Amino acid sequence: MPGTAGAMPGPPLAAAALLALLVPAAARSPGAAGCEVPPGGRFDCGPERLLSRAGCEARGCCYEPAGPGPGPGSGPGPPWCFFPRGYRSYRAENLTATASGYTAGLRRVAASFLPGEVGSLRLDVAMETPARLRFTLRDPARQRYEVPLATPRVSGRAASTLYGVQVNQDPFGLVVYRQRGGQVLLNTTVAPLFFADQFLQISTSLPSHFISGLGEHLTPLVLDTAWTRVTLWNRDMAPVPQVNLYGSHPFYLGMEDGGSAHGVFLLNSNAMDVLLQPSPALTWRTTGGILDFYVFLGPDPKSVVRQYLDVIGFPFMPPYWGLGFHLCRWGYSSTDITRQVVANMTAARFPLDVQWNDLDYMDAKRDFTFNEKSFKDYPEMVRDFHRSGLRYIMIVDPGISSSGPPGTYKPYDEGLKRGVFIRNATGQPLIGKVWPGPTAFPDFTNPETHEWWHDMVKDFHDQVPFDGMWIDMNEPSNFVEGSQDGCPNNSLEQPPYVPGVFGGRLRAGTICASSQQYLSSHYNLHSLYGLTEAIASHDALLRVRGKRPFVISRSTFAGHGRYAGHWTGDVSSDWEQLYYSVPEVLLFNLFGVPLVGADICGFVGDTSEELCVRWTQLGAFYPFMRNHNDHGTRPQEPYAFNPAAQAAMRNALRLRYSLLPFLYTLFHRAHSAGETVARPLFLEFPKDPNTWAVDRQLMWGGGLLITPVLEAGKTKVSGYFPAGTWYSLAGDSTIHSKGQWILLPAPLDTINVHVRAGHILPLQEPAFSTAESRKKGMALVVALTPDGFARGDLFWDDGESWQTFEKGDYTEILFLATHGAVLSQLLRVGAHLDGVLLEAVTVLGVTSPPRQVLANGALVGDFSYRSDTQVLRVPVSLPMWEQFVITWS
Ligand code: GLC
Repeated sequence: MPGTAGAMPGPPLAAAALLALLVPAAARSPGAAGCEVPPGGRFDCGPERLLSRAGCEARGCCYEPAGPGPGPGSGPGPPWCFFPRGYRSYRAENLTATASGYTAGLRRVAASFLPGEVGSLRLDVAMETPARLRFTLRDPARQRYEVPLATPRVSGRAASTLYGVQVNQDPFGLVVYRQRGGQVLLNTTVAPLFFADQFLQISTSLPSHFISGLGEHLTPLVLDTAWTRVTLWNRDMAPVPQVNLYGSHPFYLGMEDGGSAHGVFLLNSNAMDVLLQPSPALTWRTTGGILDFYVFLGPDPKSVVRQYLDVIGFPFMPPYWGLGFHLCRWGYSSTDITRQVVANMTAARFPLDVQWNDLDYMDAKRDFTFNEKSFKDYPEMVRDFHRSGLRYIMIVDPGISSSGPPGTYKPYDEGLKRGVFIRNATGQPLIGKVWPGPTAFPDFTNPETHEWWHDMVKDFHDQVPFDGMWIDMNEPSNFVEGSQDGCPNNSLEQPPYVPGVFGGRLRAGTICASSQQYLSSHYNLHSLYGLTEAIASHDALLRVRGKRPFVISRSTFAGHGRYAGHWTGDVSSDWEQLYYSVPEVLLFNLFGVPLVGADICGFVGDTSEELCVRWTQLGAFYPFMRNHNDHGTRPQEPYAFNPAAQAAMRNALRLRYSLLPFLYTLFHRAHSAGETVARPLFLEFPKDPNTWAVDRQLMWGGGLLITPVLEAGKTKVSGYFPAGTWYSLAGDSTIHSKGQWILLPAPLDTINVHVRAGHILPLQEPAFSTAESRKKGMALVVALTPDGFARGDLFWDDGESWQTFEKGDYTEILFLATHGAVLSQLLRVGAHLDGVLLEAVTVLGVTSPPRQVLANGALVGDFSYRSDTQVLRVPVSLPMWEQFVITWS
């Protein structure tokens, strides 16, 4: 049961009961008594400046230079100046029931040391669903900036909830606990609340040290609660640990003893720090907006993710070709070279679905232009690619070149006319500097900008019929600080508290915080830049092509996955980054951006053959699989290596292509039901705490476990196998695990992939592109549980039409194995599987040799069975679009 600052959990909350729960606390008498706080539970009383003992005590705080910590501030150790227990900031008053939950007023009861502290606040608690609670803290007297994300509108109050809530009166605090068992998930009474104009802070205890989320960072899956500061402020920054990177996802998922999980989302887009400390506890410290929290009660981690996605949106459905192999580099400097790359891939018999170009295609690095010399036959090249079943994507940066004479560059001229650019203090377009030199930045919060962007995309598409967009540099990145003319001196540029952003200033690597956008200041909207550009690009592509859009973006924010995917930016070609790509991919799946991958073989610096082989093997299991390389570095296309390395890469690519029906079905589940595609083990095995921190392996859905080699010179790899039966996908070995680490052979040509007993995976014969592979024969891998059961499904459609699921234009098949039979059940039949045959069924875990195998009642003569591996192989030729049953006895 929660034992918190005078607050006791009670029965489900009725309004009357709530009032009773306003528990007055004794006012703290200053003095050493309240200072007896164990170091791991000390909350920083001097976050915004260094305080002396006198300065600290003047705030009514405790001063204790301690331990290895650097002293004041949020370094890796306890703060020297910290809040005593019971420190008063706000007091709750007039708690009353509302239609959706209840509301209270908060009154500031102590003098503040922060400029612009809001004296009166309004707390609203909405019991939105049985598993979802929302609470907001706002200034009732003044409309402040709120994130323009369309969240579900809920009226009424959920009847029976997994959570209970109580309000501590003075000092104000909120406690959220599980109705069942009483576990406290959130307790904000542990430290005072602050709500100043540019400094909002709220702290909570955590039920465990297992906290995952809070992107985007180069980080293990589980965050370190030993004094970690996680800064969110989108930034163009080659990934290194402890630094704010390209995206912001103010969401965490926490595991609890016993395997329950909860999640917390702070819907706030301002620059923020999230501080983790050992007690364990977490502090949100943001520089604007309001405090708008969602708490998700799970109770299992998959449900937490779905509940989060219920709020921010389910992922978009990518076109089938988008799951094929993508090849890119900076430095394919002409159409001849780009064509040659494709020819080399074909000659070396590597699958390829999408060829890309970086800046090289542009004229003077300007968007929506192409170099009339080196890319003279650009449109023909793209059409030729289409003719051979390939797709084509090129880079587009948001910065619009502003330096040419008027009348020479339509995107800028039109943009100026239509007022689409972000404005500086004098109301003129803010000019920064990106690849083409001086640039203006489209303001994608302005509806007119979407129209203009669409028009530019359409104009270009009319010339060059590209298939998707790669939107880069959209943090937005700027090579000069703020703007070419600097930034004004004001509180948005120099807030009283600057989170731990790389570069020390909000404008570092980007545009002035005080520049003006349609919806608000860039100070508030900065981290939404990539998301808003992704929305504009997605919408433009849909209008222009009329098919499912494919957009890959570097910058992201919560909700991004509805519109686009993500690649993890400028990772270097080294083994450490290879490892980090696993938790990055897993985290983005928790963030609702399942279409994610790192640049295979690494981007910055020269790769090595071994690294590139291992990276291609892992990359075959990134939901988004692209090899991309920096200019001037060693070539790393699969054909650039020795025959043995090429063979290993070819195998990895063929393996991916054979699994695409399964992968596509997982994307459908993500799109239609809020599931993850690449999945951390703990999502499937939350009750096994050994899985919680596993981030050197990943799963596809619930059925496939991938154990890549992530270190140089290794021919074995250790993987965790949760209790149960795991079959190697090839069918040559079986693991019966009690929940243990297992050392697997992993020579350079091998990636370990295991199927979990109980799952049926739909496969298809690989080809050199999905255009071809989609017509090939299908196969099923049936991984039986010890009692002979398995299930799986297949989602299929034409692979690229818009909203096939929503319109019902698809096929869905359920596969079931039980009692010596596997059968299909057609849940829905569209036309798109016509002509596709089921050609092979492999049943893993058949314990005794069958004498007879029947397919739809007809004898199958040429089945094979091996008693050492217990694998039954049944060659068949059955229409996928009709029900079938295969039996063995
Ligand atoms: C950025 C991108 C990188 C791209 C380069 C040139 O660094 O992250 O992928 O190749 O810009 O456009």
